Amino acid sequence: MADLMIVVGARPQFIKAAPVMKEISSRNIDLTVVHSGQHYDPEMSAVFFRELQIPKPSVNLRTGSGSHAKQTATIMQRLEGSILAHSPKIVVVAGDTNTTLAAAIAAAKLNVPVAHIEAGLRSHDLSMPEEINRRLTDHCSVLLFAPTKTAIYNLRNEGLQLRTYLTGDTMVDSLRMVMPALRSREAGLLKHFELQAREYVLVTLHRPSNVDDLDRLREIHNALKHVAKRLRVLFLVHPRTRGRLRRIKGLAHNREFTLAPPQGYIENLALMKNASCILTDSGGMQKESFILHVPCITLRANTEWPETLQGGANRLINRPGRISREILRVAVNEDLRTRITSLKHPFGDGRASSRIVRLLESSLQHLK
Ligand code: UD1
Repeated sequence: MADLMIVVGARPQFIKAAPVMKEISSRNIDLTVVHSGQHYDPEMSAVFFRELQIPKPSVNLRTGSGSHAKQTATIMQRLEGSILAHSPKIVVVAGDTNTTLAAAIAAAKLNVPVAHIEAGLRSHDLSMPEEINRRLTDHCSVLLFAPTKTAIYNLRNEGLQLRTYLTGDTMVDSLRMVMPALRSREAGLLKHFELQAREYVLVTLHRPSNVDDLDRLREIHNALKHVAKRLRVLFLVHPRTRGRLRRIKGLAHNREFTLAPPQGYIENLALMKNASCILTDSGGMQKESFILHVPCITLRANTEWPETLQGGANRLINRPGRISREILRVAVNEDLRTRITSLKHPFGDGRASSRIVRLLESSLQHLK
């Protein structure tokens, strides 16, 4: 019988779960790591295992891509067999992807207690698949590890306070873990992309709401071409976005506007740290840019990380027609940079994983 089973599968989960797995392996706790196979390209998966020193998964469910129902159901169905075979005392999930929800439901239905890392986030926007995943995962978990006070407040509002613990955010732990490697790689990386620190905009977009509609993607692309006349643009293209961008006529790709594949965890952070401004729709990158004191523009109508909006460090803009002006304004605003550099981030002290593992350990003792 295993003590803990941790289920990961998509890029952000590797980052969120890595420091928890590291902490578990330093204690006398038996851990089974399951990879759902939701992300499978080397740059979406293997690179994170290498850079974050994540143990090789004992099981890979090889789920792959598909519609939400198909992907979620396939993970549930395949994971059920692994849970029965390994009989974990607790199943640990992280974040808000289809892997998170599928694992939480499969375990809860087998009466195995579920622990949720990064519980309590809410964008209050049910058109986002992640919002559905978060809500349902929290409601079938018995241990809710909340990263912030806002998350605690959200869980209280839904009557979940008795299972909730304020632990801090494990992404802060991961970021701290790789900071020395990041510092040693940043100069080489800037050279590779022929970039100067603070003289480029870093772009990542992968939400269906931004990239699935070709007209909207074309508008975004035009706005970025406009920015590239004044400031270098480096667009790291997620596989979801890749296929759709190819359908745009006159796709920019020159020294001013560079399209590149997704980077590994450390490379991505190094490129963020040196950017003059970030344009993204990723939740994690809004938070990382806040911690790294880099102004961020989020191409969405809402955010599950409202803390990042303080002091104008992160701005929500949902109209592609408005982003070029805003990027060019923010990127050269030294007062803004000074102001956000003085802001203390509210995402924890980098010891969230050890708190989480202590709580898991004490729950395991009660379950004996
Ligand atoms: C998923 C998560 C999202 C997270 C994001 C991080 C859900 C609902 N969404 O979105 O919360 O922010 O991961 O990246 O779980 N693909 C590849 N190679 C891969 C993986 C995907 O080519 O290794 C392509 C496939 O065409 C696939 C598409 O990307 O259909 C989307 O992948 P999917 O895992 O469904 O969702 P993401 O957009 O990556």
